[in-house]
Amino acid sequence: MARGAPLTVSDTLKVSDTGSILGIETSCDETAAAVVTADGEIASNVVASQADLHARFGGVVPEVASRRHLELIAPVVEEALDGHDVGAIAVTTRPGLIGALLVGVSAAKALAWARRLPLIPVDHLHGHIASLYLEPLDLQPPFTCLLASGGHTMLLDVRDRGGYRVLGTTLDDAAGEAFDKGARLLGLGYPGGREIDLLARDGDPTAYDFPVARLPGLDFSFSGLKTALLYTVRGLTADELARRRADLAASYQRAIVLALVERVEATGADRVAVVGGVAANSELRAALPDAALAPLPLCTDNAAMIASAARYTEPVPYPDYLSLDARPTA
Ligand code: KG4
Ligand code: ZN
Repeated sequence: MARGAPLTVSDTLKVSDTGSILGIETSCDETAAAVVTADGEIASNVVASQADLHARFGGVVPEVASRRHLELIAPVVEEALDGHDVGAIAVTTRPGLIGALLVGVSAAKALAWARRLPLIPVDHLHGHIASLYLEPLDLQPPFTCLLASGGHTMLLDVRDRGGYRVLGTTLDDAAGEAFDKGARLLGLGYPGGREIDLLARDGDPTAYDFPVARLPGLDFSFSGLKTALLYTVRGLTADELARRRADLAASYQRAIVLALVERVEATGADRVAVVGGVAANSELRAALPDAALAPLPLCTDNAAMIASAARYTEPVPYPDYLSLDARPTA
């Protein structure tokens, strides 16, 4: 993919009444664009991850992310369009890193305005849920949804495809954040969820007894777990840490998965779905065999899920959306 290409995307954007939607997602460190048909078929799905760029900092640096989105947005959108006709532009407007969101929102406004298309502002969390509405899964509500990502850990009541109601949320770290911070303490790479997932396969999940927060209601807490890992690691020599790293990863992952599964079970729901980056975790997927699981490529941030959610969101007609803003909060 060409880097820093001039913004010529609108030339390749063909307007149609077929109802396909171009989705754009730039809320964190993935620059993504996708075309989804009105029936929920994914026509294209391009994700340019910035993970390598942020790895040396051990986490996403907002200003670095914004600059990289700027470089990537035009070629990523161009690749996603690739001759597809679209009738609307959808973009994540909230929640997320404000500078990162603004790159996607500005690009979407420009594209929509140039072609007189409507613009559909999408809530990123609604997007994660709508990863379940794409073909071939095409999940029908009602269901109770566990959304576990780097920024959020929530239990949601989903009655229809247009929205959701929050039943519980994390009081401190998100589950993905716990994975990422844990990985950092263990000297693993960023993003840490996948690294811990892979290493845990060689470890004993019962080797260490890490705490599982059990709050009243349906809320989550992961900061105590992270601190427990910190003190355990501090108590080990470098050699011991190297020898026990897989056991630590397996035990730490077990505690996160247990916390998530126990909360899901506490809802008493018989129809359960799991979405978000942490839904890619192999132990979590195995622990909820009866749940509808977001397809692996759609767990972490992507724009197909944003275009999918847009199918159930009110479009803003041309040119009313020019005053539309991004928002860091939900
Ligand atoms: O949904 P997502 O791409 O971004 C947010 O909206 O936050 O989620 C990213 C998070 C990261 O914290 C990453 O470590 C975690 O998802 N993640 C995983 C796995 N793959 C990604 N966590 C556990 N196991 C995995 N296999
Ligand atoms: Zn996300």
